[in-house]
Amino acid sequence: MKLGILFSGRGTNLNALIDACKDDKYPAEIAIAISNNPNAEGIAIAEAAGIPVQVINHKEFEDRDTFDAALDSTLKEAGVELVCNAGFMRILTSGFVKNWHNRQLNIHPSLLPAFKGLHVHDRVLESGVRLTGATVHFVRDEMDEGPIVAQVAVPVNADDTVETLTARVLEAEHQIYPMAVRLVAEGKARVQGERVTIQGMPDSKTGPLFVPALS
Ligand code: GRF
Repeated sequence: MKLGILFSGRGTNLNALIDACKDDKYPAEIAIAISNNPNAEGIAIAEAAGIPVQVINHKEFEDRDTFDAALDSTLKEAGVELVCNAGFMRILTSGFVKNWHNRQLNIHPSLLPAFKGLHVHDRVLESGVRLTGATVHFVRDEMDEGPIVAQVAVPVNADDTVETLTARVLEAEHQIYPMAVRLVAEGKARVQGERVTIQGMPDSKTGPLFVPALS
């Protein structure tokens, strides 16, 4: 399956997907990576890996519609079948979201539907939750909403700072995103009534996972 990666910054999830695609047995390849930010660190990561990378700077467009139309045509020209948002910091128009319905994924650094939006780890630490994590989901109009393909839980330690928690969650993101893309690319993750069912995955029979306060 041909992937189009949308990113805006650091590019570590882009890098995780690049690494996954190096394996001949992985069912996807990156056709193009697109950044809206000409200064994104991820551009150098894509270039170093020999991935076609393009900057489509939103500031050069009149409005969201014309920017999204440029994204859309670039993805289509590259033959993209699945769009993967990887730290893409632009809100997409509903027209774009509709065009890529069930063909666009996003990764968010929390256990959705908790902690949607920005500054996730600050809010997680403030709230006192013991468990956080990351979620890969299909994109819908509402930000950080949509059928969930995969989630990973990450403990929050009492002495965590935003930096330490970010690093722990990112490590989990780098595992879960390639795994979720694999499920979609192999046709094993199917959206049925706004829920994703995973083919060949038995119902979990495990008990609860307790994470005590770690102070
Ligand atoms: C990640 O935490 C991702 O979950 C969120 O934006 C961040 C992007 O990081 N959507 P990177 O650019 O992939 O390093």
